[in-house]
Amino acid sequence: MHEARKTNLAQYFTPLAVAKFMWRLAEPAMDRALLKWADSEGAKVAVLDNSIGVGRLVRFADPKKHFIGGVDIHEPSVSALASVLDASGFECDVVAAGMEATQPRGFGVGIINPPFSIHLESSLLAPFPCTTWGRFGPNTGALSHEYAVYQALDACRVVVALVSRSYAESAASNTEINGRLSAVFHCPPKSFSEEGTDVAVSILVFGSGGRLAKHPCVSLCCRVWTMTAQTLGCPAARQNSASLLCVAHASKRMRLPSFCRLRATPMS
Ligand SMILES: C[S@@+](CC[C@H](N)C(=O)[O-])C[C@H]1O[C@@H](n2cnc3c(N)ncnc32)[C@H](O)[C@@H]1O
Repeated sequence: MHEARKTNLAQYFTPLAVAKFMWRLAEPAMDRALLKWADSEGAKVAVLDNSIGVGRLVRFADPKKHFIGGVDIHEPSVSALASVLDASGFECDVVAAGMEATQPRGFGVGIINPPFSIHLESSLLAPFPCTTWGRFGPNTGALSHEYAVYQALDACRVVVALVSRSYAESAASNTEINGRLSAVFHCPPKSFSEEGTDVAVSILVFGSGGRLAKHPCVSLCCRVWTMTAQTLGCPAARQNSASLLCVAHASKRMRLPSFCRLRATPMS
């Protein structure tokens, strides 16, 4: 992995089958939210990917239903994605920046596959439990996958995160985040082989709060905001032109879909 990174900057895209599975985990909560606000014209669920790459994880989004927010340090991917989203009619805010330079807020769903174990150093890091003493002082260092998860949890009601198996196992016993953890799915071996890498990965599903023990479920608990509610908080960000955007929310819980062929480990 280390050698591969030297040449590809950790530019592994999320395999489409995995991306589709992750999207479907979040979809029932999003659909319920939209249903609840069906009478509100323009109601959309704001979706965040803080390492969006070429946008595989938002590939199943619908411009009528979803606002897309994303950042990635790989500028060619981001500008190609921004063009595709614009051409497809999405309201979106997609910027070439590191997650460490952004402070996203007000999103409904975070769907992420962050780079694993890259050391982030920035004076702009938010002081999450995963931040450490770095080059610029306290809370200025972090590992990319941990920071991405904390950032998404801070910004979103529901988070579906693809992480390394070892991090997934540690997250399950991490009391700072496992209160929101609803389920862990261990992906089959070779899930990433089409991307030329073979790393054991798992999917973490987080709900909006409270321990959702035994029955894995996520809820998207929300309200309609009358101003642009979600922001990437990035000074360099291309500004979202929509000044009035409804972010739909729902308070009902969903059951995880039964299509799962991956192994699910409900939290106890
Ligand atoms: C595993 S890939 C995920 C790609 C995306 N899900 C897709 O399929 O297109 C990890 C992504 O993290 C990006 N990345 C690396 N460092 C980053 C950082 N500091 N902030 C944001 N993104 C970063 C890489 O450019 C890469 O696109």
